[in-house]
Amino acid sequence: MSLPFDFDRITPARLPALLRAMPKAELHIHIEGSLEPELIFQLAQRNGIALSYPSVEALRAAYAFSDLQSFLDIYYAGASVLLTEQDFFDMAWDYFEKAAADHVVRAELFFDPQTHTERGVPMDVVLRGLHRACQQAERELGVSAALILCFLRHLSEDEALGTLAQALPHRDMFIGVGLDSSERGHPPEKFARVFARCRELGMHVVAHAGEEGPPGYIRSALDVLQVERVDHGVRSLEDAALVQRLAAERVPLTVCPLSNVKLCVYPSMDQHQLPALLAAGLVATVNSDDPAYFGGYINANFLATFAALPQLGAREAYTLARNSLEASFATTTQKAAWVAQLDACFAAA
Ligand code: HPA
Ligand code: ZN
Repeated sequence: MSLPFDFDRITPARLPALLRAMPKAELHIHIEGSLEPELIFQLAQRNGIALSYPSVEALRAAYAFSDLQSFLDIYYAGASVLLTEQDFFDMAWDYFEKAAADHVVRAELFFDPQTHTERGVPMDVVLRGLHRACQQAERELGVSAALILCFLRHLSEDEALGTLAQALPHRDMFIGVGLDSSERGHPPEKFARVFARCRELGMHVVAHAGEEGPPGYIRSALDVLQVERVDHGVRSLEDAALVQRLAAERVPLTVCPLSNVKLCVYPSMDQHQLPALLAAGLVATVNSDDPAYFGGYINANFLATFAALPQLGAREAYTLARNSLEASFATTTQKAAWVAQLDACFAAA
């Protein structure tokens, strides 16, 4: 990408304001991971559900994770307060208000229907609540929004096929499918048939790979699932040939810095490999993953990353924002309009 600006004139002191204000897309947010403890308690009370934590503070204090699984256990427990269409709407609406404040112009939301259908919540309740929030976000907040249905990889492929069948009557409410939950021991190829079916149906396809799992999982996500983006993908750096391929094919990676530190993928933010990913020519983006659990929304991720890593400056800010807009599944016309907004933002900086 040839970059149209003299980035050097933007001093480090002016970077935080620019990071906040620049238009950006969020491509890796699990909407159930945006459930703040306050809303968990409100919904539990509204729905008459008993929680195993006495207070909001006690719940928040439990958010100390040693790896992905230790997080997932508490994340699935938190999602158990969601029962009605209004619950799903309220959760997504809270996220959209924060996203709009962070200058997110496009959000592609992951949701985990199996977490809800296995508790007896009907698929259409989940989808209608989330979809209504997406439509209202577009209308009232100017945030373009879409849904990506994730299959839980710790469950079987037959269960994923059953979930797909339940979702198909609502095909117009989501744009694609993804793959999340416990990565180790559940390689992408376990879901070859269901992803092939989704591709035949014209859906966008993405998958988590290379967060905790090895680089081989990124390869099989590309080769077997034929994903259009890789979620996380940071462990690609362990395989030079894979890095070359990802760069040559311009496969976007949806990187989640605060998540990576909270789940101990990196010991601290100053060890995060985002600068190396960009230096290798990879199409990296910055995202929040599960912001209520990992300490911040998308702008908090940008600010924490740039504060800890002096290699990141205005040029990288522009590249990351532009990557996110171009890697989104919006139309070419929408993307061009947002890139023009981004250019105007940097020209005025
Ligand atoms: N990784 C895998 N599954 C998930 C995550 C994650 O970071 N967040 C919610 N489900
Ligand atoms: Zn994720």
